[in-house]
Amino acid sequence: MTRTEIKQLLSSYTLGETVNIKGWVKSSRQRFVHINDGSTINNIQAVLDIDTMDEALLKKITVASALSIVGKVVESQGSGQEIEIEVESVEVLGEADPEEVRKTILQPKKHNLDTLREQAHLRFRTNLFGAVFRIRHSVSYAIHKYFNDRGYYYIHSPIITGSDAEGAGEMFRVSNLDPKNPPLKEDGSVDWSEDFFGKETHLTVSGQLEAELAALAMGKVYTFGPTFRAENSNTARHLAEFWMIEPEVAFNDLKDNMDLAEDFLRYVCRYVMENNADDLKFLNDREVKEDQQKPTAERNEMCLLDRLKFVADNDFVRLTYTEAIDVLRNSKPYKKKKFKFPVEWGTDLQSEHERYLVEKEYKKPVILTDYPASIKAFYMRSNDDGKTVAAMDILFPGIGEIIGGSQREERYDVLLQKCEEFDIPKEEAWWYLDTRKYGTVPHAGFGLGFERMVMFVTGMTNIRDVIPFPRTPKKAEF
Ligand code: 4AD
Ligand code: MG
Repeated sequence: MTRTEIKQLLSSYTLGETVNIKGWVKSSRQRFVHINDGSTINNIQAVLDIDTMDEALLKKITVASALSIVGKVVESQGSGQEIEIEVESVEVLGEADPEEVRKTILQPKKHNLDTLREQAHLRFRTNLFGAVFRIRHSVSYAIHKYFNDRGYYYIHSPIITGSDAEGAGEMFRVSNLDPKNPPLKEDGSVDWSEDFFGKETHLTVSGQLEAELAALAMGKVYTFGPTFRAENSNTARHLAEFWMIEPEVAFNDLKDNMDLAEDFLRYVCRYVMENNADDLKFLNDREVKEDQQKPTAERNEMCLLDRLKFVADNDFVRLTYTEAIDVLRNSKPYKKKKFKFPVEWGTDLQSEHERYLVEKEYKKPVILTDYPASIKAFYMRSNDDGKTVAAMDILFPGIGEIIGGSQREERYDVLLQKCEEFDIPKEEAWWYLDTRKYGTVPHAGFGLGFERMVMFVTGMTNIRDVIPFPRTPKKAEF
């Protein structure tokens, strides 16, 4: 008999038909066993005929055990579900010792997120993480669909790279030299020319530079891959390994770039609302319940579902960095000296400033543009004022920066000059510079932090809880 998935069964069934269900026991109470197979957050209730059942078999039907059940679909007698299964036969596919289960998060009760993280190998089985990872899948699919439907090509940028795209010294080295006995140069330093690739190589921090090469031939492209940053940021918004989506479009300027990013983010929110209703409702209700336990000041002003709808339906606020500095300097927290970090033209905005703009001043996603050149990457296009570049950051409520991007410097001479200012050797950036020699055109792109997007659509507040196996300083378990 072929297996029916629970999601399928709940969405279309015929009363009286016999089906085969396979899944894990979530909970059981006397004759009632709740089974989940991961296809949906919803369980199916199986009703056992305990009077006639083999005692030894019955004993094995415990929380977390895996069952194959054949039975008849009947209208449910109890409340909470439309149908249930009148069990005809049960096979225990995998037993789960209750003593062992009690030591784990499989025990059906509330566990805190830290404990769940320590048992990341089991947390897929919880309602919460089932919901989060089904939505993570959906967001990923929505992203590919968005670009595919609009004629973009998916480019696989390299994971091992010999270049440092962002010009930042925060990369993980890739090497197969013997760490105890590396080949040395005369001056005593490691001779990387003896290494696997004949040069120093690292894990990529971004696929942007490669995406630009592709865009300058194929027009509209995007990357979607893992990126790695060895910054020692132990925050709820940073991972050492995270996924990034980087569209890059020939002939686009900064305004086109903003329009694309805004349309794209709103599309993803809509997609999840339309396709993940059950999981979203679960997450929404969970958040509302948690909020009730918190002091009013710490509660969400809008519930998760309203936040998604709000982003999907409303235009983002757009202002320049220079305007933002003015707004901040006129703000209450600035005047009352509540900000920890200075607000000064030329310094990077700190998360307290970004949060003030998004959560207090505008109460909307904000796109900040035209940052000082000195605090942004070398490849951003210089503005005519000589001080700022055509950069854009998108800030989201509860998240902070979700997107970073810019119009790119397409003028060869200006780019060469920038490389010099940023100490990027011409010999290393030759291939990037080359694209500005053969039919250069204005172009623009951005990078969306995938996990930050998943945080926003699930309402999870720690980035470690939206990726199956988080990589953070001192943590690479599983
Ligand atoms: O602003 P970033 O550094 O931009 C770039 O890498 C550009 N090359 C993008 C481009 O223009 N094509 O990173 C982009 C986004 C950030 O806005 C943030 O959402 C996310 O990536 N991000 C991180 N997410 C999780 N953990 C980290 N350590 C992150 N660093 C950046
Ligand atoms: Mg950034």
